[in-house]
Amino acid sequence: MSRRPLIAANWKMHKTTPEVRSFVSAFWPKVSAGTERDMLICPPFPYISTVDEARRDTRIFLGAQNMYFEEKGAFTGEVAPGMLKDLKCEYVIIGHSERRGIFGETDESINTKVHAAVKYGLIPILCVGEKKEERQKNLTEQIILRQLEKNLKDLPDTAFTNLVIAYEPIWAIGTGLNAEAKDAHDAIALIREFIHSKFGENSAENTRILYGGSVKPDNMKLYMSQKGIDGALVGGASLDPDSFAKLVNY
Ligand code: 13P
Repeated sequence: MSRRPLIAANWKMHKTTPEVRSFVSAFWPKVSAGTERDMLICPPFPYISTVDEARRDTRIFLGAQNMYFEEKGAFTGEVAPGMLKDLKCEYVIIGHSERRGIFGETDESINTKVHAAVKYGLIPILCVGEKKEERQKNLTEQIILRQLEKNLKDLPDTAFTNLVIAYEPIWAIGTGLNAEAKDAHDAIALIREFIHSKFGENSAENTRILYGGSVKPDNMKLYMSQKGIDGALVGGASLDPDSFAKLVNY
């Protein structure tokens, strides 16, 4: 089967209301002719509705960068899965390395969030990837497998009809040091093999696996030409409408 490529923008903590509006109006005309690629914008929480309004009559998908796993309650500063559904999000990024590293998210809480996303009908984009020291010590495979084992624990096979994994080597994020295409290919093949062995062939075939880490218009084609890489999760180069359009039209 063929998986639809997914090109996802993680805007992190960037943009204001007028910037969000002008981005979408400049971006959409540059990509609207293509039909076979999915494109997704994940703005900061306060701009989810702004993107939703601006994307009307487009085929842009909407996602959040994080969420909490509880339905509601006394969790100051948190956002519930049902709230994201209410705001028309289709996707949610879970376990981004900045959430793990800066905000102390654990493999266990990430697992609970993946379960919550599936329960609420949000498509999780689970991020995994190794640190620089771990790669230098040849621990890349071990780290990725440990994250997958813990983050996907107890998921039913049915969850894999719509699940996305992003391989984001931490040393490549925001550094301009993008992974070699072969290394990205090998890590993504490892992820697919893991899913195959734990959750079956259909799950492995259905899961879209993205590369993320200093993806730019001039290296996108190289990644997308690797077998098994189904798209990209992009930070810096997704902030400019011309550059993000080039990534979608790679
Ligand atoms: P950069 O594209 O800025 O390296 O960020 C990657 C990333 O963290 C996407 O989630």
